[in-house]
Amino acid sequence: MSPWWQAHSALHPNGAQLSLIIDRLWSPMFAAAAAIFALVAGALGWALLRRRAAAEAPDDPGRERGMRWTVSLATACTVAVLLVLLGLDISVSRATTAAPGRDALRVVVTGHQWWWEIRYGGVVTANEIHVPVGRTVVLELRSNDVIHSVWPISLSPKLDEIPGKNNSLSLRAERPGVFRGQCAEYCGHQHAKMAFLVVAEAPGSFERWLQGQRELAAPPADDLARHGQQVFLSSCAACHTVAGTPASGRAGPDLTHLAGRATIAAGTLANTRGNLAGWILDPQTIKPGAYMPPIPLAPADLHAVVAYLETLR
Ligand code: CUA
Repeated sequence: MSPWWQAHSALHPNGAQLSLIIDRLWSPMFAAAAAIFALVAGALGWALLRRRAAAEAPDDPGRERGMRWTVSLATACTVAVLLVLLGLDISVSRATTAAPGRDALRVVVTGHQWWWEIRYGGVVTANEIHVPVGRTVVLELRSNDVIHSVWPISLSPKLDEIPGKNNSLSLRAERPGVFRGQCAEYCGHQHAKMAFLVVAEAPGSFERWLQGQRELAAPPADDLARHGQQVFLSSCAACHTVAGTPASGRAGPDLTHLAGRATIAAGTLANTRGNLAGWILDPQTIKPGAYMPPIPLAPADLHAVVAYLETLR
């Protein structure tokens, strides 16, 4: 597991596409900009000192010619540096957007105000993209409403989700870990609380996870969870799906395997009992403007529905 500052920084790439951009484009560009800044600052200092000496000396006919040469040389250097950077940019862009191989895993990522729907064929989940380490994953980007932008910060560059347009973004995780992603295009009131996690794991455990996601929710095993399921079906099922039950709402995230996810409300809160209960009672205080209304449940019903949600592994 990477330390948090490496899991959330674009300058510590955990993915092949971003590594390429940082090594072959960002680093040379930063080095060139730093060298040019030092050169310009040095030349400015030198000119300031020299101007004092020149002001005291009589007019030199050679000065005008010298100036013309200096300006021409500086212009030629600027053009040369920009052309080299343009060349780097084109070659890196071609490499990072190259057509993925046939074994690439395809995942449909649909932006909603303000959460992410994640689909692997028939498997539907939310706000957490699991990927196998070392395999190219193509995120097929869709939007349900306005423009969003998928930014798996330490793995790949970002790309917009535009209504009616099918963009795709490749990433290949180079090491296991949990990496943060963020919506990177202002999309309304809760844009800032539209995050996701990329969980990169060994191919074997990724396959086990995917197999688990294909399963229907297990029926509640005790009275508390059974009561919680009844509460869920009468209060939550119009907007949320739990596969294997009559709950089949599509407005909010699919909750079939909610308990296996690390966060709720698109990375806003850790997935704990207390946070779940607070979110169900009063989502508008936590995420004002979110489309989930407050659900004013009696304490016993709230306790039961949280107990039920915790069985959805
Ligand atoms: Cu979605 Cu910003």
